[in-house]
Amino acid sequence: MNNYKVREMISEEKVVERIKEIAEQINKDFEGESVTLICILKGSIFFTTELAKYIKVPVVIDFMQCASYGADTKSSGIVKLTKDLDEPIMGKHVILIEDIIDSGRTLSHLVKLLSQREPASLTLCTLLDKPDRRVVEVDVKYTGFEIPDEFVVGYGLDYAQKHRNLPFIGVVEFDS
Ligand code: IMP
Ligand code: MG
Repeated sequence: MNNYKVREMISEEKVVERIKEIAEQINKDFEGESVTLICILKGSIFFTTELAKYIKVPVVIDFMQCASYGADTKSSGIVKLTKDLDEPIMGKHVILIEDIIDSGRTLSHLVKLLSQREPASLTLCTLLDKPDRRVVEVDVKYTGFEIPDEFVVGYGLDYAQKHRNLPFIGVVEFDS
């Protein structure tokens, strides 16, 4: 693996501030309802837990995991479900929580899969979005930050399973 440095791109303070804004929007949009937050492991764990703290409507949290990346920074294009939800979502207001949207393949695949289970609604929420990289269109309602086409880590995001615990979003800068 090449040598690299991690440079801060979005501070912890800014991330948390933005997550609070998204939670407030969810509180308005789902007033009088309950929501099921689906955390897509492992990248979305920090985002999901921080977001859940500020949601005022009743919340259920469930988890699923799919594999689309190896230890590299490029998408394999293959999405495989490695852990399914524990509970049925039929008739529930589901918010699917992603760490980052790159090609859009992962979310598009999960939307197809979860729609078949007939939730009352299915809303997409992502902390980060790299719109320049999109291959498959996805209809995202809540986006934390749009970022340029750079590989980022921290706040749940990894590079070869490392750096998920960084409290901020950082760019991976490879030595040339
Ligand atoms: P997509 O299916 O191409 O949209 O890829 C989405 C998944 O790729 C995310 O859930 C991440 O796990 C991973 N990914 C994409 N870009 C990055 C990045 O910059 N840093 C870390 N993981 C990323
Ligand atoms: Mg991920």
